[in-house]
Amino acid sequence: MNKQPLRKVRVNLEEHGYDILIGEKWLEQLAIYLNFISNSSKLMLISDRNVYALAGEKVLHILREAGFQVHSAVLPGGEGCKNLTVMSWLYEQMLGFGLDRKSTVLALGGGIVGDVAGFAAATYMRGIGYIQIPTTLLALVDSSVGGKTGVNLPQGKNLVGAFYQPGLVFADLNFINSLPEKEYLTGLAEVIKYGIIWDKELFNYLEENRNKVISRDRSCLTGIVARCCEIKAEIVGQDEKESGLRALLNLGHTFGHAFEALTGYKGFTHGEAVAVGMIYAARLAVVRGLISRSQSDRIASLIENYGLPVSYGDLSAGDIIDSMYRDKKTVAGKIKFIVPTGIGVSEVVSDVAEEQLLQILKL
Ligand SMILES: NC(=O)c1ccc[n+]([C@@H]2O[C@H](COP(=O)([O-])OP(=O)(O)OC[C@H]3O[C@@H](n4cnc5c(N)ncnc54)[C@H](O)[C@@H]3O)[C@@H](O)[C@H]2O)c1
Ligand SMILES: [Zn+2]
Repeated sequence: MNKQPLRKVRVNLEEHGYDILIGEKWLEQLAIYLNFISNSSKLMLISDRNVYALAGEKVLHILREAGFQVHSAVLPGGEGCKNLTVMSWLYEQMLGFGLDRKSTVLALGGGIVGDVAGFAAATYMRGIGYIQIPTTLLALVDSSVGGKTGVNLPQGKNLVGAFYQPGLVFADLNFINSLPEKEYLTGLAEVIKYGIIWDKELFNYLEENRNKVISRDRSCLTGIVARCCEIKAEIVGQDEKESGLRALLNLGHTFGHAFEALTGYKGFTHGEAVAVGMIYAARLAVVRGLISRSQSDRIASLIENYGLPVSYGDLSAGDIIDSMYRDKKTVAGKIKFIVPTGIGVSEVVSDVAEEQLLQILKL
């Protein structure tokens, strides 16, 4: 029987718009929704070890049953494999399996797999199709949508990459069941981000329904994932390549990337680092008179109530500032910060003096 998606969100882009199909326990339906791909073309499933062990064989079986020729490439996983060495290994696998310009990549996994597989698709033979099958909450609400792909360099995160949109995002909420608590929380940090930058109602909802959200209540999650995808689709639809509005999605990320880099990507998960970063972004907004202290406290409390970290531990404020200046989001030597100007509204500030950063980092 053909099971329908629970929700469908369209990413409207002039030339390469696509659907985000959100369903539950419906992986078996995947092949039906790949009917726009000719089954004479080869597919390559890219995953990481954990996700492959969970669902890799199943996905291969579903696709083969539907007549696709599909090969798989399994990454070790973790931020450490988001690099150029892994990319060149992947290109070799793709060539070895005989992928051609008509082939399609399927990214089955979290943000790491999505970013790496998406970049492989963006660059292999100058670009082949790819499908996102997100399996972490972070990937479901954020990284699988919007077409940012890429890898890290030793000098910093996401320094090489491409804007390259998938042909489809096929989301199965069932993947959330097996997510470790820490990974679930990391995704919730990005959910909270949407509430702060864009949607007061979502923020209120997260405040009022903490226990349901934490316990992964299914109807609650469907609503949250769909709402976050709608927000991301709306923002990306207006500013695909981040010339303005899309930058708002980086709330907490300028600080967060510094925390991640300075702890060798081991001290914090991405979402944890962003959570702490959002607290500092709100403090920056307070010292600049853009938001009230009580609203900033409300943001910090929400983050804390969800069990996310609220401090950067024993890192040095000077190192954090140096690391932020090295981040690619520096334009002409100036760091851009996204700051909340209320609950559900935010803006970019780019004239922040180092002394002001020192002041808030020491708060
Ligand atoms: N492209 C974008 O727009 C964008 C946006 C946000 C974040 N990102 C990137 O995403 C990355 C982080 O992604 P992530 O948090 O999903 O990390 P991840 O991909 O490493 O996944 C986290 C862990 O969970 C495991 N896992 C995945 N799905 C699982 C499941 N269903 N059950 C059990 N375990 C599962 C993975 O194997 C991994 O160990 C970062 O590199 C970040 O820069 C990209
Ligand atoms: Zn992020």
